[in-house]
Amino acid sequence: MEYALTATKNEARAGSFYDRIASLYDFSFKLNGYGRSLDKYLASHPLPVSRGAHILDAGCGTGLLTLALIRGLGFPVSITALDLSARSIRAAKRAVSESNGRKRDVSFAQGNVLALPFADDSFDLVVTSGALEYVPLEEGFTELARVVSPGGHVLHFPIRPSLISTFLEILFRFKTHPPNKLESETERHFRIVDHYRFPPLQAIGWTKSAILVQKLLS
Ligand SMILES: C[S@@+](CC[C@H](N)C(=O)[O-])C[C@H]1O[C@@H](n2cnc3c(N)ncnc32)[C@H](O)[C@@H]1O
Repeated sequence: MEYALTATKNEARAGSFYDRIASLYDFSFKLNGYGRSLDKYLASHPLPVSRGAHILDAGCGTGLLTLALIRGLGFPVSITALDLSARSIRAAKRAVSESNGRKRDVSFAQGNVLALPFADDSFDLVVTSGALEYVPLEEGFTELARVVSPGGHVLHFPIRPSLISTFLEILFRFKTHPPNKLESETERHFRIVDHYRFPPLQAIGWTKSAILVQKLLS
């Protein structure tokens, strides 16, 4: 099956496939304990940001990672949650407004990870989970690197090859990027700070890892 290439740099396709499947995605990822695993990860791996930091959640979907950020950060920051899918953004807005976290820290934008509507060096940290698998990796990384300030970080939760990833690829129509390509594209722009493998008892670990990288000073 062809994956749902959601966008090119100049054209975002049909508001994304996620306008049709946002509810299915949200339900299945709540069921598998994804949010709890993100909470545990963030509790044991403090983010390299301080009060007032500018953070972008690139491809925020229904807000599961955004919510983990506002639960986990103990100080005010400014989070921009961006997605191509209007329906996903509506769900994310609702989830953030109903949460107990620091909801005033979050603003939303509809946009394409390949053509982000932000100036160079705008963010101290970009987090992204499950979005780069819908776009060509080299273009995605180049655009994320553009908006991160020199010395700033990207926290990436890439899908790694596994039997379950293959099943999810069919269900959600993405493509897992090969690990060697992921590593070489990452190293074109960033220094790898930490590569974390989730414990096998957490469902997130069956398909994802967490890679924290720092933008090279040019
Ligand atoms: C698997 S979901 C992940 C959502 C969220 N990051 C999470 O961790 O739950 C992938 C999201 O990426 C978004 N996406 C895919 N291609 C995109 C693009 N080119 N620009 C912006 N968002 C995109 C989809 O609309 C979808 O909401």
